[in-house]
Amino acid sequence: MDLHKLISMLADGEFHSGEEIGECLGVSRAAIWKQIKRIEELGLDVFKVTGKGYKLSAPIRLLDGDRIFDGLNSSASSWIRKLDVLTITDSTNQRALDLADTVAGKGYLCFAEYQSQGRGRRGRKWVSPLGSNLYFSMVKEFANGAAALEGLSLMVGLSIVNALKEFDIGGLSLKWPNDVILEGKKVAGILLEMTGDPSGLCQVVIGVGINVAKSKMMDEIDQAWISLGEVSNSSLDRNQLAISVVNSLVASLEKFEVEGFAAFRPGWSEYDALKGRSVSLTTANNSINGDVVGVDDTGGLLLRTEGEVKCFKGGEITVRLES
Ligand code: BTN
Repeated sequence: MDLHKLISMLADGEFHSGEEIGECLGVSRAAIWKQIKRIEELGLDVFKVTGKGYKLSAPIRLLDGDRIFDGLNSSASSWIRKLDVLTITDSTNQRALDLADTVAGKGYLCFAEYQSQGRGRRGRKWVSPLGSNLYFSMVKEFANGAAALEGLSLMVGLSIVNALKEFDIGGLSLKWPNDVILEGKKVAGILLEMTGDPSGLCQVVIGVGINVAKSKMMDEIDQAWISLGEVSNSSLDRNQLAISVVNSLVASLEKFEVEGFAAFRPGWSEYDALKGRSVSLTTANNSINGDVVGVDDTGGLLLRTEGEVKCFKGGEITVRLES
């Protein structure tokens, strides 16, 4: 049975009888039951009431590729060569990596309603329940290898924050290198993966996950998180959110290619959640304590440690309790 059709039917949040579903989708009652179980495993709450049928605990608005494409501005839409909205996939970053060095891949934008193997930074899992959040990846080609990418992940974080401002969401900040924070908790994450020649022509997959609505499946997340829905006064349309974030991202990428991260540094500093904080920076083989001064023109972290300011390119930050 086409799972997407069943989800689309239930999306209105109203009751649909087994008979109605069976007729519409041309399947038996037993097949419906099996697919309802599957939908629950993917993260949706389904109620079954004898005599009435099946209903989602709340209506959902599914992602719509045509709507997203039509809403993009001319820079963003002219950049796109292929746009997919997948109901279920392993990871949109993997889908994008698979296409990255093809013609279509050079302007590829891939959304998913559910990821079975959503990837986070440092080998972590990105919990990706169906229909509640935004998961997407896009491919961007760069001519000068890894050197041209300095500060890219910070720029992506800032362009997400700029897009979210359109939805009247206050309390946003950025945690180096690229976590988007809302009221002190993580609301969005960014994963960049590179393929091609690290010193020449390379393709970068920019993967973005934004928590939009709470879902039971997200109870397994082992860090402080929040969703946009918890602070927004109106119900957020993920299609509109997708349009704004992609428009903002494409505009920023165009500027980044010409001016590098330096052009984004003042904007980033405005949202820097760590400036002035005492932190520990953990790198592959070291842990350094210091006070955050800010970021430099390449997006490196400026840390005052042992009386001098040093620049660090990578690592994981933990904020230390101030005494
Ligand atoms: C992080 O750990 O903060 C990065 C999370 C990135 C998650 C997004 S969701 C869309 C894309 N596909 C993935 O598998 N990961 C990224």
